Amino acid sequence: MTLRDVVYKDSLKFILSGGKGGVGKTSCAGAMAVLSARHGFRTLVLSTDPAHSLSDSFDQDLSGGEVIPIKGFDNLWGMEINAEKGMQEFQNIVGDGMAGPEAQMAANLMGDMTGMSPPGSDEAMAFGKILEFIEDSSYDRVIFDTAPTGHTLKLLELPDLLDSWLGKMLTLRQRLSSMLGGLRGLFGGGQEQEDDSWKMIQQTKDKIRQARIELSDPDTTQFVVVMIPEAMAVFETQRLLASLNTWHIPANNMVVNQLVPPNPTCQFCTKRYEMQQANLNDIRDLYSDLDLTEVPLFDGEIRGIEGLTRLGEILIGNNHTED
Ligand SMILES: Nc1ncnc2c1ncn2[C@@H]1O[C@H](COP(=O)(O)OP(=O)(O)O)[C@@H](O)[C@H]1O
Ligand SMILES: [Mg+2]
Repeated sequence: MTLRDVVYKDSLKFILSGGKGGVGKTSCAGAMAVLSARHGFRTLVLSTDPAHSLSDSFDQDLSGGEVIPIKGFDNLWGMEINAEKGMQEFQNIVGDGMAGPEAQMAANLMGDMTGMSPPGSDEAMAFGKILEFIEDSSYDRVIFDTAPTGHTLKLLELPDLLDSWLGKMLTLRQRLSSMLGGLRGLFGGGQEQEDDSWKMIQQTKDKIRQARIELSDPDTTQFVVVMIPEAMAVFETQRLLASLNTWHIPANNMVVNQLVPPNPTCQFCTKRYEMQQANLNDIRDLYSDLDLTEVPLFDGEIRGIEGLTRLGEILIGNNHTED
């Protein structure tokens, strides 16, 4: 499946763009978002990288923690996920389920029993958004500009972590509720409200299950690995792909970005060119089962809709034709 097939695939709801820092994740996410919107998909592009660059890439402020319409489109929106604000929302959701004396005890016990603290910060936030948009039919397509590898791996293992954490909460709750039944009178009831809260945790658990199903379905999700033809990036890509495999995230496409052109009159350029070509050959061997898209180094930065459009044309293989 070429990148063009991925971008234009009707059933595909989530595209994640990921790789090492500085390789072109944001540019590719932006370019794929522009292509998706032009194709007619109602598209949302989200940055989950704490070192946001989506605003710079689109040349528009997307940092407000809200979904912002992208100028020049009526079906494209963008947002840099604000981890702190989002974490608050996330804790409110989970926290609501933990009101009352049971919760306090459960939380204390939880620490003792399992050594697990609630998963946190940027990844939880990003994942919270995935959960939110899985249910939200306002968008046909959500494109994630993810953080460099380490962060993204945490995001990917989060469903498992959260699921088991919430599961433990529920089990504990069952054990504690009989024990605390007698005490409840002393605290003035509140049984119903509490049940609602626990129901919400159960619903969150169900949503996480659903997210895991969608994130592992190649008809719904594709992770596009972005890299540059340098040894360091190759190593990191190996780790990333191994983890994507472990977490069953479909990843069939790789972008090899920033390829320098040959230039026999420049010794420096020739050295870089040869280094890249050697790595490119390794990459072609290593990832023969993936669809590779090679992208040249542009003579300037990739910024604004124009730049993203130009990159998009290359991503879908239109760069050699006149149309
Ligand atoms: N093929 C390319 N040619 C020229 N500049 C590029 C290319 N790909 C990325 N860039 C530039 O490199 C920088 C990093 O790209 P970016 O997409 O922000 O990477 P990441 O999100 O992986 O950190 C940006 O300034 C971007 O414009
Ligand atoms: Mg970026």
